[in-house]
Amino acid sequence: MGSLARFLSFLLFHLYFHASSSLSFSFNSSFSAMLCQHDQSLALLQFKKTFSIRSDASPRESDFPYHPKPYPKTESWKEGTDCCSWDGITCDFETGNVIGLHLSNSLLFGTIYSNNPLFFLLHLQSLDLSYNDFNNSHLSPQFGQFLNLTYLNLSSSNFGGEFPFEISYLSGLVSLDLSRNDFLILETTIFNKLAQNLTQLQELDLNFVNMSLVAPSSLMNLSSSLTSLRLIDCGLHGKFPDISHLSKLVTIDLSWNFGIDSYGGFIEPMIFEKLVRNLTMVRDLDLSMVNMSIVAPSSLMNLSSSLSSLALGFCELQGKFPDNIIQRPNLQLLDLWGNEHLTGSLTRHNWKNSLRHLDLSWTKIPVYLD
Ligand SMILES: *[C@@H]1O[C@H](CO)[C@@H](O)[C@H](O)[C@H]1NC(C)=O
Ligand SMILES: *[C@@H]1O[C@H](CO)[C@@H](O)[C@H](O)[C@H]1NC(C)=O
Ligand SMILES: *[C@@H]1O[C@H](CO)[C@@H](O)[C@H](O)[C@H]1NC(C)=O
Ligand SMILES: *[C@@H]1O[C@H](CO)[C@@H](O)[C@H](O)[C@H]1NC(C)=O
Ligand SMILES: *[C@@H]1O[C@H](CO)[C@@H](O)[C@H](O)[C@H]1NC(C)=O
Ligand SMILES: *[C@@H]1O[C@H](CO)[C@@H](O)[C@H](O)[C@H]1NC(C)=O
Ligand SMILES: *[C@@H]1O[C@H](CO)[C@@H](O)[C@H](O)[C@H]1NC(C)=O
Ligand SMILES: *[C@@H]1O[C@H](CO)[C@@H](O)[C@H](O)[C@H]1NC(C)=O
Ligand SMILES: *[C@@H]1O[C@H](CO)[C@@H](O)[C@H](O)[C@H]1NC(C)=O
Ligand SMILES: *[C@@H]1O[C@H](CO)[C@@H](O)[C@H](O)[C@H]1NC(C)=O
Repeated sequence: MGSLARFLSFLLFHLYFHASSSLSFSFNSSFSAMLCQHDQSLALLQFKKTFSIRSDASPRESDFPYHPKPYPKTESWKEGTDCCSWDGITCDFETGNVIGLHLSNSLLFGTIYSNNPLFFLLHLQSLDLSYNDFNNSHLSPQFGQFLNLTYLNLSSSNFGGEFPFEISYLSGLVSLDLSRNDFLILETTIFNKLAQNLTQLQELDLNFVNMSLVAPSSLMNLSSSLTSLRLIDCGLHGKFPDISHLSKLVTIDLSWNFGIDSYGGFIEPMIFEKLVRNLTMVRDLDLSMVNMSIVAPSSLMNLSSSLSSLALGFCELQGKFPDNIIQRPNLQLLDLWGNEHLTGSLTRHNWKNSLRHLDLSWTKIPVYLD
């Protein structure tokens, strides 16, 4: 009797639970459960209609050789079927809410205006629209409404215009990738807001976003939770900032800034030494084209022992390159080309089998084969 009562209360609890949550079961003759919320299904279908499928809307494989072949994910989206089973959609199984939208590389072409049905999907936690062509759409302030977002990837998708400050509302973001939107302009007060509010951020990729109006010292406002910072060719110029508080950084790519281009700039020796001292987790460091002309190459000596790739092409380094770098046990790539006044020597038996790429062209560093 006791166990039957327990069973019944278990059953009642679950019935109550299902009734009180917004889970919507619609049984049909085959007893399948439709998980998707009707309104969200509708929004997705309308979202689909705002685009056409164009074969040139996603990058060609020849441009991104390691990337999967593009295909139109939204073509599997059919009215009357469970949107949670559609390609690119993830739902929360308890509530039926759409929490993930992954449409990278889906040949989508069209403009995303602020009234796009996309902005109805407020439960989203992960949004990836990378590698499509949104026709130089203005990056809408509405993206700031996805307050539960932890992952946002709009890389290479032809967004343009002023970067909206509302993105800084997304304080739960762990990963933000807006790279390769060449016509996107990010200015300094907005960058500061972003840097200060995104305290959970681990990955930030703004490669090729126009940040020429951002004061380099603004990078000092970035969260110390960062493990990956990529800002290739963003137009940053002036004095390279002290980011030594970002002590969890594993990947740093600030190449093609602070230097040898029309904008100008340089790294001060003290700042660089501080970085080397504090950024002890660094595995991949790329400062190619950054003006390091007054930094002593010997200060590279203390770079992290987990170093895997070091790219310092055209940095105007002058003096003796510390040969202990080549002995790093995990070093795979060393690129020093174009530093015409860099001297030293490297001996084949000193480097490890991990080394795959070595470029010393246009330097004064000879290689001795044993
Ligand atoms: C019932 O569900 C099955 C499987 O999901 C689906 O193929 C079928 O179209 C549905 N039938 C109706 C009437 O909705
Ligand atoms: C693409 O942008 C151009 C210029 O703003 C506009 O005229 C055209 O209608 C847009 N096309 C689509 C499909 O959104
Ligand atoms: C956001 O997450 C919180 C905490 O998990 C949850 O209570 C809330 O309902 C979520 N909001 C939306 C719009 O999904
Ligand atoms: C964003 O998407 C692109 C294309 O799928 C991918 O290569 C890149 O790694 C993604 N960025 C992040 C931070 O996950
Ligand atoms: C920071 O984010 C919170 C919500 O997460 C928001 O209320 C606040 O306005 C944001 N601050 C800035 C400066 O954007
Ligand atoms: C970047 O934006 C600034 C300010 O709007 C503009 O003057 C400059 O030409 C842009 N740079 C590039 C490379 O587009
Ligand atoms: C950090 O951001 C604030 C504004 O949000 C700004 O006043 C300050 O100058 C920034 N810090 C640095 C070091 O640039
Ligand atoms: C160096 O990193 C440590 C954490 O590893 C941090 O506490 C310290 O503030 C950093 N120093 C500077 C100068 O930022
Ligand atoms: C590199 O920085 C040094 C030191 O500030 C400066 O004298 C030199 O002109 C810079 N070189 C270039 C090409 O900008
Ligand atoms: C490298 O680190 C050692 C030990 O921490 C220190 O004594 C030395 O001055 C550092 N060398 C350089 C060039 O920074």
